[in-house]
Amino acid sequence: MKKPSTEKRIALGIFITVVVSLMYHMSYDARLNSKFIIHQLYHNRDTFLNAIANGETNIGIVELAKRYSLTPYGFSKPTIWTMDLPLNTFQKNDAMPVNIIENLLLHDFYGRRLGTSLFISSVRTNDKKEKYLQGVKNEYIDFYMSKIKHALDKPPVDQYVHRQALYINSYLTWIVHFGDEPSEHGIKTIMSMCDMMSRQLNGTYIQSAFEPYVLNKLGFYKYLKTREYKDPCCFNAWAAAGYSFDDMFAEFAHNVFGMTIQWTYVLYRMMVENVRTHDISDAANYLLSDPPAGVATSRSKDGSTLVVHDLHNICRRAKKVEFVNTPICQSKCPFFKPKWTTAKSETGCIVLSNQPLYESDPNYAVFGSGERRCPGEYLTYRFMVEVSKHLKPYDITLTGGSEFIGVRNIKLYKFTTNDM
Ligand code: HEM
Repeated sequence: MKKPSTEKRIALGIFITVVVSLMYHMSYDARLNSKFIIHQLYHNRDTFLNAIANGETNIGIVELAKRYSLTPYGFSKPTIWTMDLPLNTFQKNDAMPVNIIENLLLHDFYGRRLGTSLFISSVRTNDKKEKYLQGVKNEYIDFYMSKIKHALDKPPVDQYVHRQALYINSYLTWIVHFGDEPSEHGIKTIMSMCDMMSRQLNGTYIQSAFEPYVLNKLGFYKYLKTREYKDPCCFNAWAAAGYSFDDMFAEFAHNVFGMTIQWTYVLYRMMVENVRTHDISDAANYLLSDPPAGVATSRSKDGSTLVVHDLHNICRRAKKVEFVNTPICQSKCPFFKPKWTTAKSETGCIVLSNQPLYESDPNYAVFGSGERRCPGEYLTYRFMVEVSKHLKPYDITLTGGSEFIGVRNIKLYKFTTNDM
């Protein structure tokens, strides 16, 4: 029999390597999802049966954890609720349902996660947060804001208000992280990451096992790893500050949860309620009336329990915000660090020293508190003020039904045909 040529053998070798590595990555996710399903059946069977018996199949993860004794994947004991502020950075390690983290990120040959992010890490040493903040400097924010009018003017792609809000924010998420105009495919990829998280948090076991993002994430990761980014954007700022690519990917993936989903909820509300926030005090008070994140989470000291900080109820105790729009720390400040232009505020928040911060009332916990406080807070106020300048009133109709954006269950509104 004639032996195959060297070229053919090389091609076959490459083909087998590609197939095996694809199978490996897919099988890791398949193994994870099967472990997740077994965990749910073992720990939460009665919870889900009770919920079904009480006709509460569509109440979502947060409500379910509040009403029933729920053990999230990655924990061995039921969730505990607290009115304590989320202050302890040591308790941040993997402090969210772990299947979400695992499905967002990639793994090496031994199943170890590639990269980590501030959202799931207790580490704030080696200027980790200061480095992160380089992506949201004032001059960067000015550039991101210059894209908002264009984003809002984009032709509607969906008849539902929340889907259009998600589309707009997926576009903006791309700009903030990569600096250039996304393709429609790029926008859809970020939307599919959000849909994966919303479904995995609130959906059924079976739904969460097969998600388009999970099936395509290896290709997306490789595409991002090999391309160049346009200034200004988070990826270039983080790389210049010393981030590895895997950590940048992890920060980006978690920002799709921390930024895209939160902004979508805010924009949806502004569109539906036809609200405008003219300055950052307005923006802070609007968020306070219905904090988008609702909760922050910690891991108990022994690692067994997900502790849920009830930001929604903590914020109910907060006074009306009167934001003094002056930077937190001028260059004369003794804590000023020329390298990162950051400072530690009176309540322990690590912030850019030329951005303002409201910390008169500890119950204003919309963005968390202390060292863990959100680095995207000022950017979010600027986003809301900029949106308010360009948002036109929409003609919309309540259609009935509801859907989850992240952990929030929202009422469905459609644009009337004139806007479509
Ligand atoms: C309406 C918008 C937003 C809300 C309500 C929000 C809310 C929060 C909350 C409550 C925390 C504290 C979590 C904890 O203590 O564990 C947090 C942390 C965080 N947020 Fe945001 N966020 C928003 C927008 C953003 C944006 C735009 C970004 C990125 C540009 C961002 C990135 C982060 C990161 C990286 C953390 C982790 C900080 C740390 O642990 O040190 N967020 N956010």
